[in-house]
Amino acid sequence: MQNEALLGLENLSIHVGKVPIIEAVSLDIRAGEMVGLVGESGSGKSVTALSVMRLLAEPPMKIASGSIRFDGHELTSMNETDLRALRGEEIAMIFQEPMTSLNPVFTIGQQIREMIRLHRDVSKRQADQQAEQLLARVGIPSPATTLRRYPHQLSGGQRQRVMIAIALACEPKLLIADEPTTALDVTIQAQILDLIDRLRQETAMAVLLITHDLGVVSQHCDRVAVMYLGRIVEYAAADELFANPRHRYTEALMRTIPSTNAPGDRLPAIAGTVPQPANRPSGCAFHPRCAAATARCAQDIPPLEGDTHKTACWNPVT
Ligand SMILES: Nc1ncnc2c1ncn2[C@@H]1O[C@H](COP(=O)(O)OP(=O)(O)O)[C@@H](O)[C@H]1O
Ligand SMILES: [Mg+2]
Repeated sequence: MQNEALLGLENLSIHVGKVPIIEAVSLDIRAGEMVGLVGESGSGKSVTALSVMRLLAEPPMKIASGSIRFDGHELTSMNETDLRALRGEEIAMIFQEPMTSLNPVFTIGQQIREMIRLHRDVSKRQADQQAEQLLARVGIPSPATTLRRYPHQLSGGQRQRVMIAIALACEPKLLIADEPTTALDVTIQAQILDLIDRLRQETAMAVLLITHDLGVVSQHCDRVAVMYLGRIVEYAAADELFANPRHRYTEALMRTIPSTNAPGDRLPAIAGTVPQPANRPSGCAFHPRCAAATARCAQDIPPLEGDTHKTACWNPVT
């Protein structure tokens, strides 16, 4: 039991019509673990996250094959009533722009209290107290005052702390954080990640941290999955991945991390962009952007292979 994953995606494929958006994705997260899911915009990170919450726009999206197991339940076949009980209660999610998830016409206090009372049988006064404690826990300096404020009266960093407080209200077993710090400046970004990391250590909550920035995951994640055009191309322990990247795409992403470049250097973005899923290149989807591509790379899709360090590359970094 100790080693059984809390969340396990297995061979998950999601299609729009006949076009695969996510292909054969396998990923697992154990209790208390933080796993990073990394890749440029358009890689399929958010679709993966939404599939776990079963919040995909179905249709046009459809789970074509594979399974999503969470804490002993199969989510791909779960009915909407059971799914609703799971969301917010056992699995919580925070997004990039908290302004869109907070209701502008209600105070922070009203919104946190509503979340608490939705899931717990407590009085208004108890919910008030819990809301204040939650805000203190996520590092809001004057919780009582903040409870009376409206979302637009807070900074972006404070709004994200409030979203984390709302996510924590029900003590979820899994937190999915989809680009939670992308809209924030670097200092606030580091504070929010430290906060998420501290909370997961305190509560043994598992975290799926989604980001386009490999630098963001380097300090906090136990394991990292690198995604490109709907497929996981590399999956390893974070230390191992950063010490020893094998996939050419991971290597290219690493060159875009600020700390690995001389200060003042303009970061070299990877030339080109992620193709649309409908125009998937043959073979390894990264081959048209890869300096090390060989003839084989344009022909065959490389399988994701390896024991604890998995890579899908015909010509890996050695
Ligand atoms: N509702 C949708 N209908 C059709 N295609 C979609 C839909 N949502 C996302 N996609 C496509 O799925 C791919 C992956 O998107 P997404 O998961 O948002 O990427 P990421 O989060 O990594 O930036 C993109 O090519 C995007 O255009
Ligand atoms: Mg996204």
